[in-house]
Amino acid sequence: MKLVIVGTGYVGLITGACFAEFGYNVICVDKNNDRINKLNNAQCPFYEPGLENLLLKHLTVTKLLSFTNSLSEVVADADIIFITVGTPTKRVENQADLSAVWEVAEEIGKKIFNYTVVVTKSTVPVGTTLELKNILSSNLESDKFDVVSNPEFLREGSAINDFLRPDRIVIGTNSKKSENIMKELYRPLYLNETPIVFTNIETSEMIKYASNSFLATKISFINQIADLCEKVGANVNDVAKAMGMDKRIGSKFLHAGPGFGGSCFPKDIKAFVSTAKKYNIDFSILNAVNDSNAIRPINIAKKILESKKYKKGNTIAILGLSFKPNTNDVRDSTSLKIAKLLIKKGIKIKSYDPKAMNNAKLEINELIECKTAYEACESADAVIIATEWNEFRALDFKKIKEKAKKLVIYDLRNIYNPKELRDIGFEYYGIGT
Ligand code: UDX
Repeated sequence: MKLVIVGTGYVGLITGACFAEFGYNVICVDKNNDRINKLNNAQCPFYEPGLENLLLKHLTVTKLLSFTNSLSEVVADADIIFITVGTPTKRVENQADLSAVWEVAEEIGKKIFNYTVVVTKSTVPVGTTLELKNILSSNLESDKFDVVSNPEFLREGSAINDFLRPDRIVIGTNSKKSENIMKELYRPLYLNETPIVFTNIETSEMIKYASNSFLATKISFINQIADLCEKVGANVNDVAKAMGMDKRIGSKFLHAGPGFGGSCFPKDIKAFVSTAKKYNIDFSILNAVNDSNAIRPINIAKKILESKKYKKGNTIAILGLSFKPNTNDVRDSTSLKIAKLLIKKGIKIKSYDPKAMNNAKLEINELIECKTAYEACESADAVIIATEWNEFRALDFKKIKEKAKKLVIYDLRNIYNPKELRDIGFEYYGIGT
């Protein structure tokens, strides 16, 4: 089977590299020449554990993977075309901006000659895949193609594992022929007994948004529980642990913190609310999730500032700038939101992140860049642990005690035992404890 992946962003590259790992012939296309040149040298445009090795293997050893900027040249040979272009939030009305999807549709519609399956893998609002079908129909006979929805559920930082060992695969089709081709495509996972949900196209598109929205709701729920825990003397970690033992609730995505960020949850929730509004459905739950998540970093920054009456000229160290560990992605990072608010109040921010320093500096020039966590803590009036990178999980606090000016820790990810740090002499503030 020959696969063409259009868009070499996060989803496209992981999808391409992993399908090559299954043994398929994969061509990834992007109109960004610079990106294609770099990819042809196995240079990844972002950090994702394991991806560069996979690219190198399939570019140079198996030669199953290749990159090009010419979509029109590769369409005709493809059995399946995956659309994995970006669908950012539009400035107006929070809808997903689908212009990149339509642009690809126009182009491929003119170049398909033999039956081809066209798959939407980007997260797209309900109705998009059928709209894609309409656009393709203006250039193509109906027996020359089928459209399919096959959303991804990849988490940054563990995307390759998520692709190769998914909890489930969702495939939305409206023809037996395309269903069988998709079944064949995922045969390597089918053999591993990965559950595959076959459904109609609209349902498949809904599943993606409903899943992300539910996870985000779970996070916002526990975050508000954490706020109440702080007031009444309860411990949110124990609350979450005991709640999670109930199999109906489950333990995942119940870690209280500074709020969710990243390239998906914030964008997808806004788009989902916007879709619901279009159909006069009041998504009051998701509106509340959105609002409570937006206010969270503001409240946390306020709480930090008020806790020790920091003023202009004080220095605070921030450890972790990416929106989560194992990625250099700072999109909607709560760490950066908090940093900006503190900088606004005249606080100097010394910061360290294992991978995201460069991206963070592009967004906040005032960040004082440090080479290690300990360097960031030097002469600091306080330390904020904002992202739970593994290397922050076992910091030497005796060393930090020698370097820092004041011994105050804000552990926004609850990765430390408050008593242990208090015993060493730190004033410790967690979330919901
Ligand atoms: C998410 C979905 O998990 C994935 O299925 C989808 O395809 C893309 O969006 P990702 O954004 O990479 O993946 O990260 P995820 O691990 O889901 O975390 C998202 C945000 O929620 C992060 O800011 C994280 O710190 C936060 N989070 C997560 C919490 O605050 N608490 C939790 O318990 C879990």
